[in-house]
Amino acid sequence: MTSSTTMTALAADTVLDWYRRTARDLPWRRPGVSPWAVLVSEIMLQQTQVSRVLPAYAAWLARWPTPAAQASEPVAEAIRQWGRLGYPRRAMRLHAAAVEITERFDGVVPREVADLLSLPGVGEYTARAVAAFAFRQRQPVVDTNVRRVVARAVSGLPDAGAPSTTRDLAAMTALLPPDPETAAIYSVAVMELGALVCTAAAPRCGDCPVSALCAWRRAGSPPAVARSRPVQRFEGTDRQVRGRLMARLREAEGAVPVDDLRDAWPDDTQRERCLASLLADGLAHETAPGCIALGGPPPA
Ligand code: ADE
Repeated sequence: MTSSTTMTALAADTVLDWYRRTARDLPWRRPGVSPWAVLVSEIMLQQTQVSRVLPAYAAWLARWPTPAAQASEPVAEAIRQWGRLGYPRRAMRLHAAAVEITERFDGVVPREVADLLSLPGVGEYTARAVAAFAFRQRQPVVDTNVRRVVARAVSGLPDAGAPSTTRDLAAMTALLPPDPETAAIYSVAVMELGALVCTAAAPRCGDCPVSALCAWRRAGSPPAVARSRPVQRFEGTDRQVRGRLMARLREAEGAVPVDDLRDAWPDDTQRERCLASLLADGLAHETAPGCIALGGPPPA
C-alpha cells in the first residue's frame, strides 16, 4: 500500500463495490434527475426519514417540476403541500429559494457552491450535496452519517466529535477519489454506509464492507461515553401544538377564526403561545383581526 487512500479503511473501491451491490434505489439518486429535484429531496431529507419523504417528494415534483412553477404560486401553497412532513419552515425556505432561482438565476438551479449557499435554506451540507449529486462535482458532502463513519473507520473513535465545518470538509476531501463522477458516487456511498450499517446505536459490523480495516474495530470498538441526552418527548410539546394548528390551517380553504382553533388544543396559554410563534415565523398571518390563514401576509 502506497498512498493514504489505499490504506484507509474507507478505500473507494471497497465502498463503491458495496454501494453498487446494496444501495437503496431512491428516486433522487437515479440518473437524469433534475438539480431542482435533488434540491427538493435534500431539503426534505434534512430532518425527515426516507420513507416519509418518498411520497412527499413525488407529489411536490408532480405539482412543481421546476423552480419557476413553484415560484409562480404563493408561499401558502408550499406550506399546505408540505403537509405533515414536519419543520414546515423548510417549505417556506424552499419556496423562497425557488423565487430566488427564478429571479436571480433565470430559473436554473446554480451549480457553484457559493451561489447555492446564497439561497434561503441552503447550508454547507445542502449546497455541496446539490453540487455533487446534481452536478457531479468533486465536493465533500458531510452529514451526520458521514461524520460518524469517518470518525469510526478512519479516526478510531466511537462517534464524531463536535461538528466543525472546516475540519469535517477537510477530512472528507482527503478521502474523495480524484475523478468527480466517482467522488460523487463515493459521497453518497459513505452516506449510505452510515445510514444502513454504521448506525449510531447499533452498528452492524458483520455487514460492513470495511470492518477489517476499521480503526474503531481495530481499537476494540470502545464504547461512546454515554451522553445524558434526555429522551425527546413529543406529546404535549409546543412542536405538537404547532403541528395541530398548522393541520387546521392547511385543511381550511381560507382564513380560520381563532376561536375555531380552540379544539386543536385545549390549553389556552399554550395554544396562544404557539399561534404567536407561527405568526412570528411567517407560517401564518392574520387576514383580519381574529382570522388566521396559512403563509405570510401578501406583499404590501
Ligand atoms: N441520497 C442522496 N442524498 C441523500 C440523503 N440526504 N439521504 C438519503 N439518501 C440520499
